[in-house]
Amino acid sequence: MSLHQRQQQKSLVGDPDPSSPRPPSPLLPHQFSPYIKPLLLLLSFLLLLLFFFKSPTYYPFSSDQSPLVRWRDYTLSEAANFVAKNGTVILCAVSYPYLPFLNNWLISVTRQRHHEQVLVVAEDYATLYAVNERWPGHAVLVPPVPDTQTAHKFGSQGFFNFTSRRPRHLLQILELGYNVMYNDVDMVWLADPFPYLKGTHDVYFTDDMAAVKPLNHSHGLPPPGKKGRPYICSCMIYLRPTSGAKVLLKKWINELQEQPWSKTQKSNDQPAFNWALNKTVGQVDMYLLPQAAFPTGGLYFKNKTWVRETKGMHVIVHNNYIIGFEKKTKRFREYGFWLVDDYSHESPLGKI
Ligand SMILES: *[C@@H]1O[C@H](CO)[C@@H](O)[C@H](O)[C@H]1NC(C)=O
Ligand SMILES: *[C@@H]1O[C@H](CO)[C@@H](O)[C@H](O)[C@H]1NC(C)=O
Ligand SMILES: *[C@@H]1O[C@H](CO)[C@@H](O)[C@H](O)[C@H]1NC(C)=O
Ligand SMILES: *[C@@H]1O[C@H](CO)[C@@H](O)[C@H](O)[C@H]1NC(C)=O
Ligand SMILES: *[C@@H]1O[C@H](CO)[C@@H](O)[C@H](O)[C@H]1NC(C)=O
Repeated sequence: MSLHQRQQQKSLVGDPDPSSPRPPSPLLPHQFSPYIKPLLLLLSFLLLLLFFFKSPTYYPFSSDQSPLVRWRDYTLSEAANFVAKNGTVILCAVSYPYLPFLNNWLISVTRQRHHEQVLVVAEDYATLYAVNERWPGHAVLVPPVPDTQTAHKFGSQGFFNFTSRRPRHLLQILELGYNVMYNDVDMVWLADPFPYLKGTHDVYFTDDMAAVKPLNHSHGLPPPGKKGRPYICSCMIYLRPTSGAKVLLKKWINELQEQPWSKTQKSNDQPAFNWALNKTVGQVDMYLLPQAAFPTGGLYFKNKTWVRETKGMHVIVHNNYIIGFEKKTKRFREYGFWLVDDYSHESPLGKI
């Protein structure tokens, strides 16, 4: 389908050389042709451009401009409309150094046949172009580009703004009417998670606590831990476009703006997400996913007995409870989850 579109588009606008032989047009007497022919060519070219730009489905393939120009103005809503299948978008956010993790995660998603729904929120232009060059339409950059200088100034307004980008993007996709699944890319899918999103709850999430729970554990919000809030992971969240889910995201954004931030606190948005869960529990229909299917890295990589006991039940494994690119890679390799070494041909991005 997309190949056909691209070929068709090439043959329509692809021959701008006026000296190439053309059949003479019966509507054009030869004496006018030196002026009218180029004009008509220009006019038809403009009409074609207009046609492609008005048709959102064609947009990702529509322009012969350089990739830089082509993708700079691609919006989140255009991108969501393009990738959504069955009303659902799968979102991740990636900066350039994390491309190998993106590719690894993507291979595992492709094996479950959900890759066409994936939208990569690029945190920099290098990522935007790297993804869209290989896989047109699957990456978007939401301006402004997070400036690493201001974005990492803890406690600054710029820092709050940067960390609140994720819930803002999720909220925007819900406002468009789509379901959205967010994933960190240091995860690997071992099975299709969608059958686990049972019922019609507003939000589905996983526990980041490593303590083993019984297989029939409750699906409600777990009780608060030592810090007064629960330890739900902001790494894997599924939301339906309901008013309850929007209430939660707005609260999360609000918490990010209001939480005093300090150097001693972790530089992520998980605490604010947990306070938002804590404060909206009466208004939002929440569903805790089963631990055996969605274990935290603190359990999966640290308790071999548990892994053996729950064999065949694992769906998404998160490579957390470990810090650093190298260590994460090494650990995935040890468990046979570093798929990019041998299976990069399975990724829509190929070898990166
Ligand atoms: C969309 O839904 C149909 C019918 O339920 C299903 O067969 C198909 O696999 C789904 N596609 C994706 C990408 O989820
Ligand atoms: C942060 O966001 C607020 C509200 O969206 C905006 O008014 C402010 O200028 C932003 N500040 C920085 C430093 O990005
Ligand atoms: C789980 O199963 C045990 C024993 O079968 C039972 O005592 C317990 O109430 C169940 N817990 C829940 C949350 O259903
Ligand atoms: C919310 O947090 C407060 C303060 O830590 C706690 O007392 C309360 O039990 C929490 N509520 C829920 C539903 O987790
Ligand atoms: C490891 O898993 C086993 C089996 O589920 C459990 O009994 C044990 O308490 C766990 N160990 C730790 C340290 O959590």
